[in-house]
Amino acid sequence: MATMALDPVTANEAAQAYDAVGETYLRYADGDLRALFEFSSRYSFADREIWRRIDAKLVAIRSSGRTSIRILDAGCGPGTWLKRCALRARALGFLEIDGLGFDISPAMIDLAAKELAQANDPAVNLEVIVADIAEASLPKGHIDIVLCLYGVLNHLPVAQHQAVAARLAGAGDTLFVTVRTVGSLPSIFVAGIEQARNFRQDNVEDRLEIDLLDGRHLEFPSHLFTADEFAALFAAHGHIEERAGLDLFHGRFAPDHRWNPKDMADTAFHAGLERLEHLCASDPCFIDRAAHVLLQVGRRAE
Ligand SMILES: C[S@@+](CC[C@H](N)C(=O)[O-])C[C@H]1O[C@@H](n2cnc3c(N)ncnc32)[C@H](O)[C@@H]1O
Repeated sequence: MATMALDPVTANEAAQAYDAVGETYLRYADGDLRALFEFSSRYSFADREIWRRIDAKLVAIRSSGRTSIRILDAGCGPGTWLKRCALRARALGFLEIDGLGFDISPAMIDLAAKELAQANDPAVNLEVIVADIAEASLPKGHIDIVLCLYGVLNHLPVAQHQAVAARLAGAGDTLFVTVRTVGSLPSIFVAGIEQARNFRQDNVEDRLEIDLLDGRHLEFPSHLFTADEFAALFAAHGHIEERAGLDLFHGRFAPDHRWNPKDMADTAFHAGLERLEHLCASDPCFIDRAAHVLLQVGRRAE
C-alpha cells in the first residue's frame, strides 16, 4: 500500500497512557491471541458482532471475483484486527493483501509490528506506523475496508471530530467505526476497570483521570458519544449503512466469577442475552446504553 505521509506526532496524553500500559492493554482488550477467532476477551460479544460484519464484507469482495484487497486500520492499537482481516482474507483466497495500521502510541505499534510479522507472507503485506489520526494524511489510492475500532475517537477533542470523520469516511469504500457511548458502563480504556483504584470521568471537560492500583496516575481526553451525535458526524460525509448498539446486556448481566456461582453462565442464558441484544441493538431507548455504537459507513452517492 502506498505509505502514508509520516506527519510528526506531537506528545499526546492518550499515547502516553497506552504506552504506559503496553502489553497489559493487549491482554485486556484481545484475550487469548492464540485463538484469534474465538474472541475470548471480556468484549467477546461486541468483538464477534464487529467481526461478523467485517467478515461479510471480506466475503462479498472476494465473491465479486477480486483477488486483491487493501485495508486500513486507523488507531490500530496492537494490530489484532488487522491480523484477523489478513488471515481471513488469505483463507478466502485473496492473492494480494495490503494492510496498513497506524496508531499514536509507539508501544502499541511495537506490539502490532511483532504480531503482524507472523501473518506476513508473499501474498500479505502488513505495515504499521506511528501517526496521529488528527493529522495523518491517509494513503492515496483505493482502500476497500477502513477500520477505526473501540476507543480511538473517544480520545479526540470534539473540535477535531468533523475533520477526522470526513477523512475516515472518504478514505475507502466501507468504514467500520465504533465508539464508547455516553450511557455505557465505566471503562478506563487502557486496562480492565479492576486495575483502577480510583477514576473520574469529567463529561464537561471530556477528560478521564485514573489512579491505577500500582500507584501510577494517568489522564487523557475521553469524550463519550450519544448514538445520534456519532451518526450525525458520519452522515455528513458518507452513507450510513448500519447503526447498532453493541453489548447492551452482556456487560451488565455477565456473571462475576468473584461472586456468582459457576453454573450461572449456562448456554441457555447466553442465547437469551444474544436474542435480547439483537432485538434492542437499534432501539432508541437502549442504544445510548450499549457499551459501544457501531456504524458501517459506505461512500456517499455522488
Ligand atoms: C481502545 S484502543 C483500540 C485499539 C484498536 N483499534 C483495537 O480495537 O484493538 C484505542 C487506541 O487509539 C489510539 N489513539 C488514541 N488517540 C489517537 C490518535 N490521535 N491517533 C491515532 N491513534 C490514537 C490509542 O493509542 C489506542 O491504541
